Amino acid sequence: MRKKIVAANWKMNKIAAEARSYIESLLVELGEATDVEVVLIPPFTLLPLCSQMLGESPSVRLGAQNMHPAKSGAFTGEISASMLRDLYARYVVVGHSERRQLFGESDGFVGEKVRAAHDASLRPILCVGETLGERTAGHVEQVIDRQLGAGLHGVDAKEMGETVIAYEPIWAIGTGHNATPEQAQAVHAHIREVIASLYAAPVAERVRIQYGGSVKPDNAAELLRQPDIDGALVGGASLDPRSFAAIVHAAREAKG
Ligand code: 13P
Repeated sequence: MRKKIVAANWKMNKIAAEARSYIESLLVELGEATDVEVVLIPPFTLLPLCSQMLGESPSVRLGAQNMHPAKSGAFTGEISASMLRDLYARYVVVGHSERRQLFGESDGFVGEKVRAAHDASLRPILCVGETLGERTAGHVEQVIDRQLGAGLHGVDAKEMGETVIAYEPIWAIGTGHNATPEQAQAVHAHIREVIASLYAAPVAERVRIQYGGSVKPDNAAELLRQPDIDGALVGGASLDPRSFAAIVHAAREAKG
């Protein structure tokens, strides 16, 4: 049985005072239950504050939004996996479509990051997903296969079990038009098949696959009830602690 994982990707939002009141509310809303893994993914600047506030909280883990694959060196403005570990991040988002589209990150570069994250014992959340044009042209599986092939290059079976995949169709991100549960389930099932063929069926059964793209409190339950949807990667609706907590509660109810 895969434990559901619901993550809040704040993207480039919030300063310290906002993060403080957010976390106070979120911890109250979530209570002590640990049946769903909750991951808070703030901007780098807020990682120290968030880890201090979350302390030993059993229910919420920290993640980062990006990293550079090199261990260290002359990469002005970048941040390494070990720096993120040093700030108590457990997860790192890799290959988000905003990084791919706005910052020109290639499939190969994304794969280097996944490899480097594992080398530093950070768990990557590898994002994959097609544009509207690619969907309309019937190329969804081709795009996903290419992104998974390059993104998982050099990842062994044990590391695969610790990798989270996020299916984020680009046309659904920030648009209010989420994929239907059927559309998402079909791609998630395909992703699991690809992992089974690259590794083995038991490995694929362990891997958690999140859906991302206009997840809201009122559509989360139906998405999270699908057999291959193991969580959500939430952007806009994660900025408010009550709406994010409502999505976590939907995951709790959907489990099993
Ligand atoms: P929205 O939830 O705002 O559509 O963003 C999804 C996303 O990009 C999460 O990484």
